[in-house]
Amino acid sequence: MRVLVTGGSGRLGRSVVSVLSARGHQVTSVDTAPADLPEGVDTVTADLLDPAALEEAFTRARPEAVVHLAGIAVPFARPDVETLQVNTGLAWAVLSAAVAHGAHAAVAASSPTVYGYNTPSWTPRYLPLDEEHPVAPWHAYGLSKTIIEDTVRALARTARTCVLSCVRPGYVVAPEEWEGAPTQLGHTMAERLADPALAATSLFNYVDARDAAELFALVVENPDKVRGGQVFNAMAPDPLATGPVDALLPQHHPATAAAAAALADGRAVFSSQAAHDALGWNPTRTWREQLRVPTGGSAAPSGGHRD
Ligand SMILES: NC(=O)c1ccc[n+]([C@@H]2O[C@H](COP(=O)([O-])OP(=O)(O)OC[C@H]3O[C@@H](n4cnc5c(N)ncnc54)[C@H](O)[C@@H]3O)[C@@H](O)[C@H]2O)c1
Repeated sequence: MRVLVTGGSGRLGRSVVSVLSARGHQVTSVDTAPADLPEGVDTVTADLLDPAALEEAFTRARPEAVVHLAGIAVPFARPDVETLQVNTGLAWAVLSAAVAHGAHAAVAASSPTVYGYNTPSWTPRYLPLDEEHPVAPWHAYGLSKTIIEDTVRALARTARTCVLSCVRPGYVVAPEEWEGAPTQLGHTMAERLADPALAATSLFNYVDARDAAELFALVVENPDKVRGGQVFNAMAPDPLATGPVDALLPQHHPATAAAAAALADGRAVFSSQAAHDALGWNPTRTWREQLRVPTGGSAAPSGGHRD
């Protein structure tokens, strides 16, 4: 299948391009930044906010599927208005081009920040957080992702042959970051695990970039198994914490105390069960096997809590 990936040079995009390529797809990566991508991948350097460049990229790639990852990927990385304009403008431009150019599937990267945690009063209705839980974004990045999810639903209302959907990856860990390279917020994974205050800001979620990439591949390979406008959480099955998350979570987010009791069996704060049920997605890379640095924490056996 011909697949166009936007943001293919990025932390997540490099794994998405590699996984799609390894699964036999003909991949075109479009990004403003260059990258060393696998042999056979067509690499286009272009700003997708430029309508002519976008049209040229789609005409060249003739995509049967589109994976849209390009954007400002970290909250507060850029001024708020820029984050909103770039992320929402890119999503509309890329996804509507996917429909117009006859793609059968288009999936956009959203984010768990749509749930709106990290305010003092944030109170989940229940835990773990699944895709049915209401969203309540409060910063420009989270709002931009909420608008992207709405954009997908809006386009899905009239798209006849293209199945549009969203994936919400957890804190993405690129392969080299397990080895000690700095993560998106500047600290290493070992530091993030050692200091619960760091991982608490994402409610202890994470996902290996290769596992997340497999879900993006499954979504575009199986449009018949995806509802138009559907959203999938994409997190590792366990929390990024050496201690019990039902106790840790209320220490950092006091209003979660009542709901956190449901996590006493060690499950993650987020549920990715929908991706497992619809597409058989089974993320296998957990910090317990991937992190090469001694953490001092208990290395309990890994395992999903899917049933
Ligand atoms: N990294 C995470 O933990 C995480 C978590 C949830 C969601 N996401 C989302 O996943 C996507 C990818 O994240 P990432 O961590 O790989 O980010 P990244 O910053 O590493 O990659 C984003 C890529 O988009 C490109 N880009 C930005 N604007 C562009 C434009 N106008 N035209 C073409 N290319 C452009 C950048 O050059 C970059 O290579 C983003 O949408 C992000 O919001 C990331």
